[in-house]
Amino acid sequence: ALLDISPKPLSGRKIIVTSGPTHEPIDPVRYIANRSSGKQGHAIAAALARLGADVRLVSGPVGIADPAEVTTLHVETANEMKDAVEQLLPADAAVFVAAVADWRSETSAGEKIKKVAGEGPPVLRMIENPDILAGVGHHRQRPSLVVGFAAETQDLVRNAEAKLKKKGADFIVANDVSHEGAESPGVMGGDRNKVRIVSKAGVDEWPEMSKDEVAARLAAVIAERLKTIVV
Ligand code: CTP
Ligand code: CA
Repeated sequence: ALLDISPKPLSGRKIIVTSGPTHEPIDPVRYIANRSSGKQGHAIAAALARLGADVRLVSGPVGIADPAEVTTLHVETANEMKDAVEQLLPADAAVFVAAVADWRSETSAGEKIKKVAGEGPPVLRMIENPDILAGVGHHRQRPSLVVGFAAETQDLVRNAEAKLKKKGADFIVANDVSHEGAESPGVMGGDRNKVRIVSKAGVDEWPEMSKDEVAARLAAVIAERLKTIVV
């Protein structure tokens, strides 16, 4: 055809995606963070946009470019990510791929903490960060479709099922990260991924594929699910 006017499957759908790590400051030059390249979350944002969705990506600090055709908001901390996500509600779907730091230092020093002879290292008191996915999963403006991720080193499916319930998600994309290491990037930092999709309906094991392929396949699942949801 000269002109393709067929609407894309996610046209008119607003979808929030979180990606990357969060950085929790200790002082102006130091922070606590999770290992995350942002590759999988950014690939999912891009795949949803290719299907026509109005994608709002909330990204922690990453070393990769903003995906094409995606409105990207940049944040540092878990609290900033939570505020950004909640301000984007309402939405048709939300996909939580970010590796959010579970804890932050209770205080962040205004000045660089100095080594003081004889005093020894500082003792940091940690406090828990808000659970952004659980907040949205139980929100009065909950999107029709809420998707979380779970990175586990053991009891993958059992832990993913527990997260599904506790966080109010429809799907958990479960990742085995038991072979991770800074020396040999596995899932984190690497380009390939092997996931299981855990939902109330059961567990769907996907073969190992590239993160772009996981993203395309997940975007197709999301499009299929949203098709049956009339807003
Ligand atoms: N998540 C979030 N906010 C947090 C922690 C996690 O939104 N403060 C989201 C992640 O983006 C992911 C899902 O929750 O989609 C599961 O993250 P994970 O770290 O596996 O779960 P936790 O509940 O933090 O449990 P734990 O780290 O103890 O396994
Ligand atoms: Ca966690």
